[in-house]
Amino acid sequence: MKLWGGRFTKGEDADMTSFDNSLPTSKLLYKEDIQGSIAHAKMLGKQNIISQKESAAIVDGLKEILTDVEQGILIIPDSGYEDIHSFIETTLTKKIGEDGKKLHTARSRNDQIAVDTKMYFKNRLQGILEEIDDLVDTFITKGQENPYLMPGYTHLQKAQTITFKYYLDAYAQMLLRDKKRLLNAINIMDENPLGSGALAGTTHNIDRQLTTELLNFKKPVKNFIDAVSDRDYVIETLSDFSIIGVHLSRLSEELIIYASQEFQYVTFDDSLSTGSSMMPQKKNADSAELIRGNSALLIGELNQILVIMKGLPLAYDKDMQLDKETFLPAFDHIEKMLLIAKKIVSTLKINRVKLQKAVKNGFLNATDLADYLVKKGRPFRDAHTVVGQAVLFAEKHQKALEDLTIEELKQFDQIIDEDVYHYLNIQESIHKGIKKEML
Ligand code: ARG
Repeated sequence: MKLWGGRFTKGEDADMTSFDNSLPTSKLLYKEDIQGSIAHAKMLGKQNIISQKESAAIVDGLKEILTDVEQGILIIPDSGYEDIHSFIETTLTKKIGEDGKKLHTARSRNDQIAVDTKMYFKNRLQGILEEIDDLVDTFITKGQENPYLMPGYTHLQKAQTITFKYYLDAYAQMLLRDKKRLLNAINIMDENPLGSGALAGTTHNIDRQLTTELLNFKKPVKNFIDAVSDRDYVIETLSDFSIIGVHLSRLSEELIIYASQEFQYVTFDDSLSTGSSMMPQKKNADSAELIRGNSALLIGELNQILVIMKGLPLAYDKDMQLDKETFLPAFDHIEKMLLIAKKIVSTLKINRVKLQKAVKNGFLNATDLADYLVKKGRPFRDAHTVVGQAVLFAEKHQKALEDLTIEELKQFDQIIDEDVYHYLNIQESIHKGIKKEML
């Protein structure tokens, strides 16, 4: 069933029909499509563009269709209609008769899909925001439960002592910025495109303010051409998702490393690990590997929508129908990633003993020793060299800096005194200066 055909002398090629069929994806927007149509029909009635009676019949018919779909009485097929708009309008007319044919007055599928998509985004993003909040809470709680010292890394080489709590807080901060980015995206996209028509509005005296209020948008769009051509919000949201993906992928990579036999800082819960079909001893951190992998899919989906849009002349082009094949999977991916990340972190076991041992090796307090020398009056650059020599000596004798005797330390700089051990004590050092913030 098509919504057009008057000017055609020939039917559509069957392969073309299937090539153009967007029902499998656009049907996921059925709710927004019906809600948009209800608002439109109410407005048409109120403006006397159609009669009150016709408007009421359409609204009732659409409400019934929505209930029937939600209760599984009406199943939206995967083919047989060009898109969700065609299916709903055809079903409405079958249901209520001639009045149904008036629904599409003063509207195009171009502004219709634009309003559907924006509503879909606004709704579904609420769930993502909640998932982000949950994950942030999980980072914070897990950190509070595990305030232990651990090695911090740069270049994946031991650098300075940090706390596990502070390490997780780094990810909480990233996710809080991600949330701000999404809130900003929602704020920017919150303009009602309905009424833009195909690209040039309509000669009917429609009330865009009314549909804006009915559909809970902040305001109507300023420019019709822009409104039907705009998919910035898809690009922006998928870009924000990709950034979240990159954050979660880095976390995953680290946890995989920290869970390895070589590190053993953390243990993944069995419920989030898988085994090997061949090697009986294996327990793999597949949950984190899949988050890392899914982040690649998100970046791919962002690329797809960018490339779809980049060469399109204004206004609507059918290429844009394929946007659903980028954002629908992207929503699924990000939702699962956030959920699994939360489960991984909340069930993760932290191996305090291994962390303690790890902090002891690797000269994590070398910078503290340099700071000590600076406080005694040495220029930092000289202190850096002195400590480098002490590290070389300690390494050679297989000792930690704090295990060197005062005589051994003094050979590098006479200014070193007994009080140096306060600086070399890793527990004490974390209480000094602004390091306290890590506690
Ligand atoms: N189904 C299309 C989409 O999802 C909207 C329809 C616009 N089609 C058209 N021929 N103007 O983007």
